[in-house]
Amino acid sequence: MNGNTKKLKWGFLGLGNMAHVFLDDLLKVDGSELVAVASRNETKAEKFANQYQVSSFYKSYEKLLEDPSIDIIYIATPHHNHAELAIKSMESGKHVLCEKPLAVNRYQVQAMIDASKKNQKFLMEALWSRFNPCINSVIDHINKGDIGTVSYINADFGLVIDKGSTHRIHLSETAGGSLLELGVYPVFLAYLIFGKPIKIKAAGKLDSKTGTDIQAGIILEFENGIANLYSGFTAESDMVAKIYGDEGRIYLDPFWHETESYSIVKGNLTNYLTQDYSMPTKGKGFTYEIEECQNCIASGKIESSIWSHQDSLNLIEIMDEIRSQIGLRYPFEKVTEN
Ligand SMILES: NC(=O)c1ccc[n+]([C@@H]2O[C@H](COP(=O)([O-])OP(=O)(O)OC[C@H]3O[C@@H](n4cnc5c(N)ncnc54)[C@H](OP(=O)(O)O)[C@@H]3O)[C@@H](O)[C@H]2O)c1
Repeated sequence: MNGNTKKLKWGFLGLGNMAHVFLDDLLKVDGSELVAVASRNETKAEKFANQYQVSSFYKSYEKLLEDPSIDIIYIATPHHNHAELAIKSMESGKHVLCEKPLAVNRYQVQAMIDASKKNQKFLMEALWSRFNPCINSVIDHINKGDIGTVSYINADFGLVIDKGSTHRIHLSETAGGSLLELGVYPVFLAYLIFGKPIKIKAAGKLDSKTGTDIQAGIILEFENGIANLYSGFTAESDMVAKIYGDEGRIYLDPFWHETESYSIVKGNLTNYLTQDYSMPTKGKGFTYEIEECQNCIASGKIESSIWSHQDSLNLIEIMDEIRSQIGLRYPFEKVTEN
């Protein structure tokens, strides 16, 4: 983008951890600028705005949506209100990049897609791993047949997380739990490589206080293979994603969902050759999804062809089935949902 082109003007809803991390990368992308932030707490909004020299701050999300100078909203709130805020944003004439998972269930995701179409506003799930250079390079290797026919994936995302039973990451009212917070990544990787599963099997452990999952073990069966996936808050997993073919295997290094390196091992366990690849990301790696928003909006698209509306819908449908099998329904979900 050259210096004369109009910058994409962003407004942030929710000033928690991700707002800071994402802004760090936004500042590294030519063609975008943060012009307004909103928090439920005015002092917090003012502090954030002062810290980063943001021109406007608001004490409510709704007030920010009335600001005509904003082109696109970045939603970085807990999962339970993604759908409502995204729909309000699009109805207020704004494009939307919404943190993962796009919403809590397929009914909410469908309503968001409908709002995008009705209002002709861009909508994308901030599934940043889809734009990770290493992950894309690995997909190229697979498509070229570099490890033969791929038939097995093993991917996990386990961390020790206990933020107390009233924190949004654990609460059922805010759609907490390991699956929606972390498990979305391994499920995404399996979907990216194999497509939609034909069978889903899941086991989960629910927290006795909050009712949300602290562990989820998932086996997905696809037309051409099997994925063994895991998310959890009780132990740190090695965070290496492993992809196996009949001529070799690929290891995405930790943390694989944001990795900057991977290896391809060709041969068998006694006679093999390893090739290491390094691909440093621009910033932490949110830069690519920001650039995708810029490109799509500049060309008048309401969805990305790289991570489309249908991709988000397919992903949440898998997550819905996993949740149903582990017995996790959020209190605000209607009986007809999930
Ligand atoms: N892409 C990634 O790498 C990544 C990493 C972590 C999380 N995430 C996703 O990003 C989103 C936000 O995560 P985060 O780690 O930034 O969360 P966080 O630190 O807990 O912040 C969430 C913010 O949402 C707002 N909020 C609105 N309603 C709330 C409620 N009922 N309870 C708590 N907070 C509420 C608050 O902002 P105000 O008080 O300012 O209104 C809060 O600071 C989630 O969708 C999460 O899955 C993505």
